[in-house]
Amino acid sequence: MMKPVILTGDRPSGPLHLGHYVGSLANRVHYQQQGWTQYIIIADVQALTDNYEHPHKVHDNVFEVACDYLAVGLDPAQTTFFIQSQVPEIADLTIYYLNLVTVNRLRRNPTVKTEIEQKGFRDSIPAGFFVYPVSQAADITCVKATTVPVGEDQLPMIEQTNEIVRTFNRIYKKEVLTEVRAIVPEVSRLVGIDGKTKMSKSLGNAIYLSDSADVVAQKVKSMYTDPSHIKVSDPGQVEGNTVFTYLDVFDTRKDEVVELKGGLGDMVLKKRLTEVLNNFLDPIRTRRAVFYNDKASVMEILKKGTLVTREVAANTVQEVKDVMYLNY
Ligand code: TRP
Repeated sequence: MMKPVILTGDRPSGPLHLGHYVGSLANRVHYQQQGWTQYIIIADVQALTDNYEHPHKVHDNVFEVACDYLAVGLDPAQTTFFIQSQVPEIADLTIYYLNLVTVNRLRRNPTVKTEIEQKGFRDSIPAGFFVYPVSQAADITCVKATTVPVGEDQLPMIEQTNEIVRTFNRIYKKEVLTEVRAIVPEVSRLVGIDGKTKMSKSLGNAIYLSDSADVVAQKVKSMYTDPSHIKVSDPGQVEGNTVFTYLDVFDTRKDEVVELKGGLGDMVLKKRLTEVLNNFLDPIRTRRAVFYNDKASVMEILKKGTLVTREVAANTVQEVKDVMYLNY
């Protein structure tokens, strides 16, 4: 089998949290260790589709997200980072692909549909937002990615991308574009500290990779546990106890966690979880601070990766234009 070409990334809408770590960052480090070709897109253009009135927020978050990537051990010598807006080839491809997609098809995209509801767009959907799946197809195909690791909620994007790829190759009679395969990680999400839904910035239930040890302690203290567990002697409930959910993910002493499930007070469990999380986050925080205090180097890393990506993308655009007779 050929070595996969991975394309993955995030909208820069804030610093990354433990949910991102569990759902994608850890896997990206793994792909890097496999020696696979990996591109990571910082999707600032996509972030602007529903944030166009806050451009400087998006701008600042590009740096935040880049610091998080570098802090968890993604290495620019092995993984190529790029900023979406700085690869004009993506905008080029998007314009051509837009002819291959109907408005009705976009309307049926479940991810877009859900987001339109969540954001309350109703009858005022920004056109740029509405067509972002097409731009995402351009992100993926510009480097001829073969594999895109995504959460469940992004699967419709991959489907839409493959439809565009097939339509393009059929109409222009050449296998210019490559179909992609989605990898959905086994553990794709982490519940937030409120114990209700997945960890997310907008719900205010996140622990960030950049949180200080004190903030982590505070957040663990506020965690949802077991309301029926009042006295230490009461039998503890494990199911749905967020502290245990986190211990299961982050505590490496698994046999001790099993023992703890026999019953113990919240205080003891939370103290342990605080230690476990801070031990896990300490090296990440230390590395992050080094990058954060050297913004010039981080931006240089992004610039270099963007140049590498542009070279590959320019080849794709050339092939695309050739079969579309856009060569004069
Ligand atoms: N849609 C992704 C998100 O909301 C970000 C993204 C943009 C992306 N382009 C991509 C993900 C290409 C994977 C592949 O976080």
